[in-house]
Amino acid sequence: MESSTLDLIHRLIKTIDSLIAVGDLQQAEELCNSMLAKDENAAAGEFLYRKGLITLQNGNYHDAVILLNHVVNNNPTNPKFKEELTVALMKAGRHSQDSGSLDEARNYYRCTLMINPYHEQAPEALVAMDMSGEYYLKVLSQIHEWQKPAAYLEIGVSRGESMTLAKPPTFCVGIDPTPLIKVPFHTQTQLFEIESDRFFAEQDLSAILNGKSLDLAFIDGMHTFEQVFRDFINVERYCQPDTLVVLHDCLPSDPITSARNRISGWWTGDVWKVLPCLMKYRPDLAIIIIPAPPSGLAIITCLDAKSTILDKGYSGFVEEFKGLTFEEFEKIRDSSFDMVTNDWEAIEKQIISVRGESL
Ligand SMILES: C[S@@+](CC[C@H](N)C(=O)[O-])C[C@H]1O[C@@H](n2cnc3c(N)ncnc32)[C@H](O)[C@@H]1O
Repeated sequence: MESSTLDLIHRLIKTIDSLIAVGDLQQAEELCNSMLAKDENAAAGEFLYRKGLITLQNGNYHDAVILLNHVVNNNPTNPKFKEELTVALMKAGRHSQDSGSLDEARNYYRCTLMINPYHEQAPEALVAMDMSGEYYLKVLSQIHEWQKPAAYLEIGVSRGESMTLAKPPTFCVGIDPTPLIKVPFHTQTQLFEIESDRFFAEQDLSAILNGKSLDLAFIDGMHTFEQVFRDFINVERYCQPDTLVVLHDCLPSDPITSARNRISGWWTGDVWKVLPCLMKYRPDLAIIIIPAPPSGLAIITCLDAKSTILDKGYSGFVEEFKGLTFEEFEKIRDSSFDMVTNDWEAIEKQIISVRGESL
């Protein structure tokens, strides 16, 4: 392109930007349209981008998404275009949510994550739509108060925010290869700085518990299906029938943050696959699923320390469930998850009820 033409285009872009800045959107759009009408315009992306911005400022969020999506498709590596598309998607999402079109809103938020897997507000918006009631740590604290465990086992301790909920006389065992303890523990606690597989292979948990009953366990270590599945199998061996095993991250909100391999900032992994697997092959277990923000909890009880079904079938079960997609998760969740309202009275009632039926 000749330098005089390039100069003209730059001047036009500057003029359009100035018009947008002073709020003269109509004239800015007319200029964009006149440039876009010219075929083979090498700067078409810049003009279409600005038309998208104007459409967004006019409050036509859906149209802005379409325009900016087109710009991004034609210029997939331009960060400025991508950033503005996510702004449009989030605004379209909020607008749909406010007008009660919740599925549409979810779609916009999920698309935001497809464009930018590190977007912070999109997962928050999805969580606010799909989860309700107390934050998972508050629910875990209520479980501690109610169950009053003689012994508590935690896989995945991190900063200690869940471990700190245990109070005397509970005896605690924590497992985490890289804990970053920031919060004090309040009761007698033994911390093992190793991976959970290694812990169960090398340590004698019965000896560590020294006769204390393992009444509560929280599995929140490595967030992959296989690992959580193995953690559950290993933990169950030390449980009483009425022990409560709590799993974190079993209610994902979108396909990106629940991918098997971490590709996003916020990540729940594919932990959720363990639930349909347990439901199918261990119907004797009672599983209570709570939509506790940010990513759900499952309480598993009516356990059987002597069961070998999962251990024996492990490889086949992993093969069967590891390929499930997020769309399949949504179907399974809607058809088979026994979801309880995230309210302590309802949770307590449900635990008592499932125990009464099975124990
Ligand atoms: C999400 S954090 C745990 C958060 C903590 N439970 C809480 O609620 O505050 C996950 C932790 O699991 C640990 N982790 C990763 N792989 C693990 C494994 N194989 N065994 C045990 N812990 C593991 C990580 O080091 C990390 O600290």
